[in-house]
Amino acid sequence: MQATLGFERPKHILSASQFNRAFLDYMYELINQIRKFDKTKDGLMYLQSLLPHRRAMLYFTQPSTRTFMSFQAACSILGIKPSEIRDTATSSERKGESIDDSLRTFASYVDLIVMRAPVAGLSDRIATLLDATPRPVPIINAGSGPDEHPTQALLDIYTLQRSFKSASGIEGKTICMVGDLKRGRTIRSLSRLLANYPRTQLIFCSPPEFKIADDLRQFLSSRDVSFEETTNFTAAIEAADAIYMTRVQDEYDQAGATKVDTRAYCLKQEHLPLLRRDSVIMHPLPRRDELDPAIDHDPRAKYWRQERNGMWTRVALITILMGVDSHIVLPTL
Ligand code: CP
Repeated sequence: MQATLGFERPKHILSASQFNRAFLDYMYELINQIRKFDKTKDGLMYLQSLLPHRRAMLYFTQPSTRTFMSFQAACSILGIKPSEIRDTATSSERKGESIDDSLRTFASYVDLIVMRAPVAGLSDRIATLLDATPRPVPIINAGSGPDEHPTQALLDIYTLQRSFKSASGIEGKTICMVGDLKRGRTIRSLSRLLANYPRTQLIFCSPPEFKIADDLRQFLSSRDVSFEETTNFTAAIEAADAIYMTRVQDEYDQAGATKVDTRAYCLKQEHLPLLRRDSVIMHPLPRRDELDPAIDHDPRAKYWRQERNGMWTRVALITILMGVDSHIVLPTL
C-alpha cells in the first residue's frame, strides 16, 4: 500500500523532515475517516477493538497539558493501555539510572513510547539505541527541547488543510508565524512540513532577538521556500492567509537573561478588522498575552479546534505506527 501511496511506512515519528507530501495527504484522509467513527458508539467500539493487546508508555519529563492528554486519549480511543512517567523524581533516574537505560527498560514492557523531554535530539538517539536491541519499539517525539514537535506540526497541517478545503488547500497560501521563532519548536517543525506545499509563502514576524535560527533559514532556502523576516506585525498579519501565534519560550532563558519586549507582537481584538475575512488564526497553545482571549469568539480563531484535531491526528499516527491504518477504509486517493 505504501509503495503506491508514495511514502515508506515510518518506524518512528522523530522529525517533521521525515514526511513528504504523499504522507501528509494520506494522513489527512485517514484522520477524516477516523473521525467518522466518532459519530456512533459502534464506530468508537470498533476503534477500541483495533489495539487492546498493545501497551504504551507516555514519558513526559517536560510540562505538557494537551500533548500528554491527547496522546492519553488517543491510546484510550484505540484500546491501548498507557503507563506514564511525568517526573524523573518518581523513576529510577532519581537513583542515577541513565535516560538510555530507563527508555530501554520501558521497551521491555510496552509496544510504543511517546516521549517529551527538554533535550534536543533525545528521541532520535533513543530510537537508534532501541533499534539496535532485540526489542525495538516505535518512538514518537512529543516535543524535544527547542528543537522539534513533529506531531504538533502534523495536527497544524491537518487544521490548515481543513480550513482551506474550499480555498484550494494550503498551496500558494501565505502563512505568518509570530513570536519566539528562535526557540519555538512548533515553528521549526511546521515550517519544515510547509516546504511540501508549492508556492507557499512564509512570513516570520518577531523581535530581532527571536528571529528564526540559521539551520531553518538554510533548510527553507534549500527547498526553495519563499520566506521573509520582519518586525512589522501589522503589515505581516494583514498579508496573511493564516496567522500562527506563539508564546515566548522563556523556559530556555539563560540565568540573568534580559527580558525581550514582545508587546508589539500580541494579537488583540483591535487587530481583527485588519485581517483577511477568510484568514485563519492559530496557536499551538498554551498562550499568554500574545493572544487575547477576547478574540476566541471570532470565526477565524481555530486554536480550540486545532487542539481537538491533535487528538485525532495522534490516533491516526498510532494506527500507522502499529500497522492497523489498513483497517480504516479510505476513499481512493
Ligand atoms: N501545544 C503543546 O505542545 O501543548 P502542551 O505543552 O500543553 O502539550
